[in-house]
Amino acid sequence: RLRRLHARQILDSRGRPTVEAEISLDNGIQVRASVPSGASTGKAEAVELRDGGEAWGGLGVSRAVSNIRGEIAALLEGCDVLDQVGLDNRIREADGTHNLARFGANATLAVSIAAVRASAVATGIPLHRRLAELCGTTPSMPMPMVNILSGGLHAGRGMDVQDFLVIPIGASSYSEALDWICRVRTAAASICAKRGISTLLADEGGLSPGFATSEEALSLMVEAFEQAGLEPGVQAAIALDVASSSLASANGAYAFARQGRSFGAREMIELQRQWAASFPIVSIEDGLGEDDWANWPALTRALGHLQLVGDDLFATQPDRIRRGIDENIANAALIKVNQNGTLSGTLEAITTARAAGYATVISARSGETEDDFLADLAVGVAGRQIKVGSVRNSERLAKYNQLLRLEEEGLAWSGRTGLAPL
Ligand code: PGA
Ligand code: ZN
Repeated sequence: RLRRLHARQILDSRGRPTVEAEISLDNGIQVRASVPSGASTGKAEAVELRDGGEAWGGLGVSRAVSNIRGEIAALLEGCDVLDQVGLDNRIREADGTHNLARFGANATLAVSIAAVRASAVATGIPLHRRLAELCGTTPSMPMPMVNILSGGLHAGRGMDVQDFLVIPIGASSYSEALDWICRVRTAAASICAKRGISTLLADEGGLSPGFATSEEALSLMVEAFEQAGLEPGVQAAIALDVASSSLASANGAYAFARQGRSFGAREMIELQRQWAASFPIVSIEDGLGEDDWANWPALTRALGHLQLVGDDLFATQPDRIRRGIDENIANAALIKVNQNGTLSGTLEAITTARAAGYATVISARSGETEDDFLADLAVGVAGRQIKVGSVRNSERLAKYNQLLRLEEEGLAWSGRTGLAPL
């Protein structure tokens, strides 16, 4: 049973405040959990509570911390941490808003994750097994989708498209996948260095070459695969996160500022069709904006032979995923715990997607902490794919390294079979 719930403000990988919660149980067990924060956030996400004002540039989280120490701690006193759904529901009901705006999703999520960690320790079950139990799944090793080149809000808008990622589709194990990814990352950096292009890191540890066109970035990806000794389209493939919601301009068009051009929805679809025809692309995320429900069916018809992932579009909200399913939009859901705000809500989003045959990609945020929870989540819920940024910076490596530990259990390797269309 929960004896003490405590919280504090800590810093994330961008040096911005975030929330850490700490749970102590009757039997002396103590666990912690901290929460991430996005830059290209969707409008439908659960709300992060920030202080405003002067301190920490207005980004302080002392109100979220006080909510945990005060109201949420009182609410959960003596509560059984094994009852995850009950605990999450109690918090959600007490918050009283649809998007957790009162307590702050940064407060509720920190508590929710600390609770599942406490329940795992209390019952002596490894965290990924406990999560599998809660989700009714058989654990498996996820395929990583890894940022190599960054643009958009993660790299000072140096390129219009936010993420150019590698998926080592031909790898026969997680550790081989990681080896190939590191080789691609090193090759991309050496190509940039040779051409005198900046190799400075973007927010998720990717490179930010600042190309004016997406085609230049796509070509560099293929070149990096080749230099790494990997056959493009067979061993290594490209995934994109267009993050279109951050390109949307007032008139409903998509503004590619670096290219000095604007595209309507139809042109966006045509553009992505051309990219997919010329480069070994297997997955496109947020190819259209979060409000562009009207044009998503056309995008899905044109490119549904690829994995089409909804991030800002679905915002890890079960009702938005259900709408997508009903309207035949996309075929995969990005899963970000803090878009939802509780673990139970996140699991519901995963089960909703999966029941309709949608693939899932368990994802970090551009602002992360050293908490490695996502690795256990991706394995436990058999997320099949994981997206936690580049193989640089300890807040990313915490997850990749935890996956290496979990791999020792001999869990099934998802390989490319977890990619939609399934
Ligand atoms: P964010 O970016 O964490 O800044 O929202 C990640 C993504 O768009 O997938
Ligand atoms: Zn995204």
